[in-house]
Amino acid sequence: MTRRRQIYEGKAKILYEGPEPGTIIQYFKDDATAFNAEKKGTINGKGVINNRISEYVFTRLSHIGIPTHFVRRLNMREQLVRQVEIVPVEVIVRNVAAGSICKRLGLEEGQPLPHTLIEYCYKDDALGDPLIAEEHISCFGWATQEEMQDISSMAIRINDFMCGLFSGIGIRLIDFKLEFGRLFDGDFSRIILADEISPDGCRLWDMETNEKLDKDRFRRDLGGEVEAYQEVARRLGLVQDQSANEVLDLDSHRKKREPK
Ligand code: TMP
Repeated sequence: MTRRRQIYEGKAKILYEGPEPGTIIQYFKDDATAFNAEKKGTINGKGVINNRISEYVFTRLSHIGIPTHFVRRLNMREQLVRQVEIVPVEVIVRNVAAGSICKRLGLEEGQPLPHTLIEYCYKDDALGDPLIAEEHISCFGWATQEEMQDISSMAIRINDFMCGLFSGIGIRLIDFKLEFGRLFDGDFSRIILADEISPDGCRLWDMETNEKLDKDRFRRDLGGEVEAYQEVARRLGLVQDQSANEVLDLDSHRKKREPK
């Protein structure tokens, strides 16, 4: 087998050149970071679970007409996606106050926001992904106003859909982060949803107990990260009760057998 060319290694994923031009393979790692990578760790099996959850959510979103980069899942940790030019803006959608907005504005965590808020951060690790206004985006040419129209309307539709999806399984969607990319067709490009949607980039609270089922377990040293991610996958029907561990075991088994 020929060795694939690595294009990029991020904090939670590695991107490899795909089998055909215009495609990329996204490999989901178990690495976890928080606070702009000041805190580093590993959540065993996270990559496998996030690959499945993201596949599921992107597929469901495509069914309601959201264009996405997702093509198909290849194996436990990899998915084939369309190559896009990532818009260097992280789109944060918030329904309930939590995380950085609480610190910034002195809000109490868990307080529902008067209406859904969209915030933007400039995607630049060296700067710590600073919060920006929409004005900065057009001023510095990170995206056009037309592209921002598409991005914000998609973000709202995605939020509506995901709130329903998660409330159906007893989970409150507190907030989440999206990334978008430009898909080129000759000189023209259109905006599609990229990156991933998983408990790494969402806040998901159990509706009854307010238990956190997301990366805040790692950020805040609460423990039980793997169990929380597995619980989300289980409620989404992606693993049978009991078999979440088997999925992980299968993966390590496969790894052991792979020739070096
Ligand atoms: P925040 O409260 O830290 O600003 O995060 C808001 C949401 O965005 C939360 O669900 C986590 C997600 N997020 C990421 O996925 N990546 C990031 O780099 C940051 C800062 C937040």
